[in-house]
Amino acid sequence: MTTALTFREPVWTDIDTLVALDRESFADDAWPATTWWEEFALRPRRDYVVAETADGELAAYGGIDHGGDTADIMTIAVAPAAQGHGLGARILAELERRAAARGATGALLEVRADNTAALALYRRAGWRQVHVRRRYYQPGDVDALILAKSLGEKGLSDD
Ligand SMILES: CC(C)(COP(=O)(O)OP(=O)(O)OC[C@H]1O[C@@H](n2cnc3c(N)ncnc32)[C@H](O)[C@@H]1OP(=O)(O)O)[C@@H](O)C(=O)NCCC(=O)NCCS
Repeated sequence: MTTALTFREPVWTDIDTLVALDRESFADDAWPATTWWEEFALRPRRDYVVAETADGELAAYGGIDHGGDTADIMTIAVAPAAQGHGLGARILAELERRAAARGATGALLEVRADNTAALALYRRAGWRQVHVRRRYYQPGDVDALILAKSLGEKGLSDD
């Protein structure tokens, strides 16, 4: 299904769908509609992309903050039915491409230490852990891992 996807900028009429997908993806950490409105209002510094199927369904989304020489990945998620087919890697690559195109030489992101799928995706894409924020996610005492990647490099190993 990922071959027939179109990447486009999200618009305000996507917000209800983004809220629903976010709830499926992040449960208690999901963004409410007000946060999506705020994020859209911060464009073009914030930069979001959605992947849409030929049927008009949103299959994935991601966003980045262009902050000078270091960009921050704000969010990335793939609809449960579309996971495991390389779409997460495609969205991540698109965000990295946009960051580099706007002049960033590196990027940072934050991920829960118990998010196995996301960590596998990031490590596979050459991201490396640079910091830990102990017990950042509450409740649950889950650490937040800060990962970094130099843009313009291709690293595939996780050493
Ligand atoms: C993390 C997420 C975006 C991955 O999306 P995806 O489209 O399934 O990922 P891909 O198919 O591109 O897989 C990329 C790599 O991640 C790994 N991966 C994906 N799903 C995995 C899973 N459930 N368990 C372990 N590894 C997994 C695979 O190793 C894959 O590498 P491979 O090419 O060697 O197989 C998706 O699981 C998701 O939306 N999760 C909920 C939201 C979330 O946690 N976002 C990240 C917040 S930091």
